[in-house]
Amino acid sequence: VPGLQIAIDGPSGSGKGTVAKMLAGEVGLPVLDTGLLYRLIGGLALERDIALDDSEALAALVDEMLEQVAWTVNGIAFGGENWTDRLRSEAVGAAASTVAAQQQVRDKLLGLQRKIAESGCIMDGRDVGTVVLPQAQAKFFLNASVRERARRRWAQLKDQGGSSLEAVIEELKMRDQRDRERQHAPLRQAEDGIAIDSTTMRVDDVVDRMLGVLARRG
Ligand code: C5P
Repeated sequence: VPGLQIAIDGPSGSGKGTVAKMLAGEVGLPVLDTGLLYRLIGGLALERDIALDDSEALAALVDEMLEQVAWTVNGIAFGGENWTDRLRSEAVGAAASTVAAQQQVRDKLLGLQRKIAESGCIMDGRDVGTVVLPQAQAKFFLNASVRERARRRWAQLKDQGGSSLEAVIEELKMRDQRDRERQHAPLRQAEDGIAIDSTTMRVDDVVDRMLGVLARRG
């Protein structure tokens, strides 16, 4: 369905990335993980030693990023290089969440996200249904208990060595709180959003429920 826009928002580890990709396969739409845009800015800032509260330097960084970013099925590329894998760490996630609290950064990314969505798209993030695509035909808000979300993150990160489950829970709580309590485009369910709690659900069942909603809406 060209032009169809589906928003999937939720906190870290809610499963929205996996679900968005599977749903995209089912309905034949491209998918954009908007978190990668914020992660790229956070990752570049860390790499270049830019202070995460230096709004002037960050604004320049976002402008540079907008010129050199390419969005591919495999994730995100910057300056011709695929950056996706090196943006997965929780250090980059925390940096992303810090820079994402700045309105200037968000405003600059808004146009790009809307342009990508123009011809139809599934987008996952924090503010897709509330701010980026308020006119999206379907909006889902995916959630799960903090313990289950941390367990999923931990399972993903384990291979890279490092953090204990308890440490991941603490990191996740901090990032959640920052995302929910920030002034600009905080994480919250859209008024017309459909909540799905995935704590005890398999991804296939989450996707089935979404497909059911889409089918009922024609
Ligand atoms: O979803 P992911 O964990 O990759 O997102 C990293 C961070 O980027 C989030 O913690 C959030 O602060 C920010 N973000 C956002 N708005 C979005 C997507 C991500 O503020 N639409």
